[in-house]
Formats: sequence, structure tokens, C-alpha cells
Amino acid sequence: MKPIAEQVVVITGASSGIGRASALAFGAKGARVVLAARNRDALEHVATQIEASGGQAHVVVTDVAEWPQVERLAEQAVQRFGHIDTWLNNAAVNEHASVLDMTIEELDRIIQVNLMGQIYGVKAALGPMRRQRSGTIINMGSAASNRAVPLHSAYVASKHGIAGFTDSIRLDLMREEMPITVTLIQPGFLDTPFFHNARAKLGGHQSRPIPPIYAPEVVAETILFAATHPRRNLVVGGQAAMAIFLEKLSPGLVDKLMLARGAGFRLQTENTPDDGVDNLFAPIPGTGAVRGTWGNEAIVSSFYTRHIECYPNRKRMLWAALGIGLVALARRGPPGASR
Ligand SMILES: NC(=O)c1ccc[n+]([C@@H]2O[C@H](COP(=O)([O-])OP(=O)(O)OC[C@H]3O[C@@H](n4cnc5c(N)ncnc54)[C@H](OP(=O)(O)O)[C@@H]3O)[C@@H](O)[C@H]2O)c1
Repeated sequence: MKPIAEQVVVITGASSGIGRASALAFGAKGARVVLAARNRDALEHVATQIEASGGQAHVVVTDVAEWPQVERLAEQAVQRFGHIDTWLNNAAVNEHASVLDMTIEELDRIIQVNLMGQIYGVKAALGPMRRQRSGTIINMGSAASNRAVPLHSAYVASKHGIAGFTDSIRLDLMREEMPITVTLIQPGFLDTPFFHNARAKLGGHQSRPIPPIYAPEVVAETILFAATHPRRNLVVGGQAAMAIFLEKLSPGLVDKLMLARGAGFRLQTENTPDDGVDNLFAPIPGTGAVRGTWGNEAIVSSFYTRHIECYPNRKRMLWAALGIGLVALARRGPPGASR
């Protein structure tokens, strides 16, 4: 894999949050970055910042729910910079609501943007990458690719779908002996504009991330790692890794923890009223931002991801030790129990 400074990187959802943080990080290291999303003003703002930091940027306004626009994104990237090294499928929308309160159009839109948008992105990226016989595809999953969260049913479905799709195309590429890496990134909750951008039907309240909340720059750092080190999947944040571990051990227990004392609803609901503005069908005007409004709560680095998750042997050892410890505890029974 080439050093970042020599790479051409395509990023969908580059106008906000993780995509924007990643674009700035790639640009600061000298990559040539192709910025895709629907909000032109925000993308041009990011391009100006990248150029000011010594990188090169090219804006392609794209709705990832439309195949011809995603196909055009790949063509424009190759036309402008000659090839594509890394393609980050990151764009997504969400609605915080019970499925009973969501319209068919809203459900369709979430699947179309989040799941079909990434499927289109992979298909578009594979054209030039297969011709080059090289490349890295990074798909943005979530802890929700393994673990469901209440009030996110269509979003969780899309993230489970992305995990399955990513695993399946990796197999196809391996069967063809095509040297293209496919990585799934799985963050926990983050301080990005995602929750203000999402549509909410939470009794008039604004939605919010469940703590602990990480800064999007922690995910960007992991994405840059994935662009230079072949990995199958990378979980961002110890809390997301623990949720996935517990899910494998006992999904019923995680259900109970999530719903205890109304936590599933309470922790996702802000006291502030919802402003009724969202980006489900059209972008929100403005120049966008990397961060949301939970900056004072945000954890700015992850020891677990940086030093354990990124190294498969360390990760295997940690989770095996934890698993063995938990089984031993369960066998011993509650304190004071006779043997
Ligand atoms: N925030 C979290 O807690 C969290 C946790 C785990 C995983 N993730 C994942 O991380 C990724 C980025 O989320 P984020 O937190 O950075 O959210 P964000 O700040 O809302 O960014 C979402 C991006 O997607 C773009 N987008 C939305 N619909 C689009 C469409 N139809 N076509 C093209 N671009 C579109 C938005 O730009 P425009 O509106 O300009 O098009 C924006 O750039 C998503 O895949 C999300 O599922 C987020």
C-alpha cells in the first residue's frame, strides 16, 4: 500500500463529520482528495482547507443514492488524478424513531443512501481498481453492524447489510486473486453533526449520541491506518468493541442492559426541542462542520483502537483472555455458592 502522500482518495460524505475529518487528515498528509456529498458549499469549504494545508482537492457533487452520479464520481476522480488508491464509502442518513412512526419513503431512503450508496460506491471503485490491480475500499459500518440499537431500525438494517456485503465482496476478490483490500470500519457513538442532521420523531426532542462519545478525528486516524495497512475490520473505541464482544456472548443480556430503566430512549434524547431540519432527502445549507455539539464530552483518542484493535494478534489475545475469564467466573457461580 502506498504512503498517504502518494495516494488518490475518494471520500463520500466529505462535507461533514467523519468524512470531513478524514478528508482534512488525508489532505494534510499530502494526498489528492476527491470530495463527494450533496452540499457544494460545504465541499468547497473543505477543498479550500485542504489546499491551504498543502494537499490537492477536487469537488464532485454527488447523491450516493443515484447510481449514475456515483459512476460519474469514479470517472471524474480518474479524469482529474489518473487513478484511485483508496475509496471511502462513508455517506449516511438516519432517522431516530420507532419503525411504526416512519413512512415508507423514509425507510426506503435510509436503505437507498446507506446501503445502496455503499454498494454503488464499491461497484464504481472496482472498475478502475481492477484495471490497476490495486486499491483499498473502506466501508463505513458501525458497532450497529453487529449490535442493534432501539429507535434506529432502518439504520441498523443498513449497517448489518454493509457488513455482509463487505465480507462477500472480499471473498469475490480473494477468489479472483485480485489484490484489492476491503475493510469495514466500526465506530461507536461520536460527536458529529449526524444527530442534528438526522430526522427525529422523539416526542419533539432532538436526538443525541449515547455516551461514551468519541471525537470523529479518532475514526479519521483509524481510516488513515486502514488506507496503509490491510485489515479486515477495525472497531473504533473500547466501548464499541465491548458491545460487540458482549453481543457475541449474550445478545439477550445486552438487550436487557440497553432497555434497563428506559435507557434506550432516555440516553438518545436531548432536552432541547428538535428544530425540524434534517438532511434525509436534501442537504442542509451552510458550510458544514466536523464536530457536533458534544465537544466537552468527547474522548479524543482510543488506546484500545490504536494499540490493540489495529494489531490482530493482540486483539485475539485480549478477547480470548476476557472470554476465558468470564467462563471461569460463570463456572465459579455467585459468591458464597457451595461447589
Ligand atoms: N456519528 C456517529 O455516532 C456514528 C457512529 C457509527 C458510525 N457512523 C457512520 O459514520 C458515517 C459518517 O457519519 P457522521 O457521523 O460523520 O455523519 P454526518 O456528519 O451527518 O455526515 C454524513 C455525511 O453523509 C453525506 N450524505 C448524506 N446523504 C447523502 C447522499 N444521499 N449522497 C451523498 N452524501 C450524503 C452528508 O453530506 P450532504 O448532506 O452534504 O450530502 C455528510 O457529508 C456514516 O456512515 C455513519 O453511519 C456514525
